[in-house]
This record gives sequence, structure tokens and C-alpha cells, in this order.
Amino acid sequence: SKSDCLKGKKVLVTAGGTQEPLDPVRFLGNRSSGRMGYAIAQAMQEAGAETILVSAPTDLPVPNGVKRISVQTALEMHDVVLNNFSDMDVIVKAAAVADYRPATNAEQKIKKDGTNRTIELVPNPDILAELGRRKTSQVLIGFAAETENLLAYAQEKMHRKNVDLLVANDVTKPGAGFGSPTNIVSFLFPDGRRIDFPQMSKLEIARNLVEEIVNLLG
Ligand code: C5P
Repeated sequence: SKSDCLKGKKVLVTAGGTQEPLDPVRFLGNRSSGRMGYAIAQAMQEAGAETILVSAPTDLPVPNGVKRISVQTALEMHDVVLNNFSDMDVIVKAAAVADYRPATNAEQKIKKDGTNRTIELVPNPDILAELGRRKTSQVLIGFAAETENLLAYAQEKMHRKNVDLLVANDVTKPGAGFGSPTNIVSFLFPDGRRIDFPQMSKLEIARNLVEEIVNLLG
């Protein structure tokens, strides 16, 4: 039945936008609300999976029965995900991970002095790409939020990051993307298959994702 199709499976979901500190009161962030990842964690749990949600800061409540591990930065998310990876059957990387972080995190609040400032940024590790290199039997799901050339960029990401299913969404469409309760997505598979969904709630999309994961687990 639907309520136990992932029974006995361990699933890790990442969600939200990481925050990269500049000083004790400031950070670089992004517009991710965490809603897609939280809906996925809920759907996984409802399907019977033991579900861990590695979450960047959001205002959302933890879905019933889900174990949440809160993180702030990409580096913290990297460590939590890598430490849990080998135990997992499925990893869904719905988080909007900052590609760069400030080179230094000042110990004290940075003071203004009226001059121009430059923030030096250094690259963060790509968590999903690292999982793609390390994966053994795990099913790996990635996301691609794009503002142009959606399917081409998404397909390139799917292959480069070695994922089993990539969820692509155009974040500029009304009813899609950050903060919205609905989304418009396509599922892309390495064998070239593609499923285009109409606009639907993030929870409905998450339930469709559960179905595909059950197929991928075989
Ligand atoms: O940022 P990008 O569009 O490449 O993100 C695509 C996928 O890679 C998403 O699933 C995202 O969670 C993941 N990602 C990651 N670590 C990063 C950047 C992105 O895991 N540093």
C-alpha cells in the first residue's frame, strides 16, 4: 500500500537555503523557503521511510515523525550529509546550497567607514557532486532551479553530478519556485526519459517523487 512502500528504507532530504556568515550579525543567503524539501520529507515519512531532514534555516515546522538536523552553512550541511551518506538508501538534495562563502567570517561586527568594500568569496564544496562520485547503491536525487535554458542545464547537471533522477524547475514561472506553495517541474532520468508535470502542490510533486523512487529502488 501507499503507506508502506518505503518501509525499511532510510532517506535523507536536504532543504532550505544555506546562510554564509560575514560577521556575527550578517550573512549571504538566497530566496529558498525550504517548502519543496519539507514536502518531500513529509511524503517520504508518509510512505514509511525513516526520514532525516537536514535543514538550513527556515520558519517551517518539522513534519510529523521526521528527524530534523538543523544547519546554517554549506560546510555544516556537507559534514552532516557526508557523515550519514553510507547508511542511506535514498538522498534527495532539495537544498539551495550557496556556491560561495565569504573568505573570512569576522569575529566582531564589521563597522562602516564610508568607503567601498569588496567581499572576497571562496567556493563551497558541491555536496551533490561529491555524493555522485561516492555513491554505491544509493538512489541520488538532485534539483535544478534555473531561470533560462532549463532542460539543457538540468540535463548537463544530471550527468555531471551522476544523479539517478533530476527534478528541474523554472523558478521564473508564476506558480513555480521559491516560496510558492505550488511548483511546475519535470523529472529527468539518465536513460533520456522525461516526465513533465502540470502545476501542482509541492506535496503532490513530492508524492510523485516517492513513486519514482520506489521504481528506482526496484
Ligand atoms: O547549484 P546547482 O544548481 O548546481 O544545484 C543543483 C543540485 O546540486 C541541487 O540538488 C543542490 O542541492 C545541489 N548542490 C549541492 N552542493 C552545492 C551546490 C548545489 O549539493 N554546493
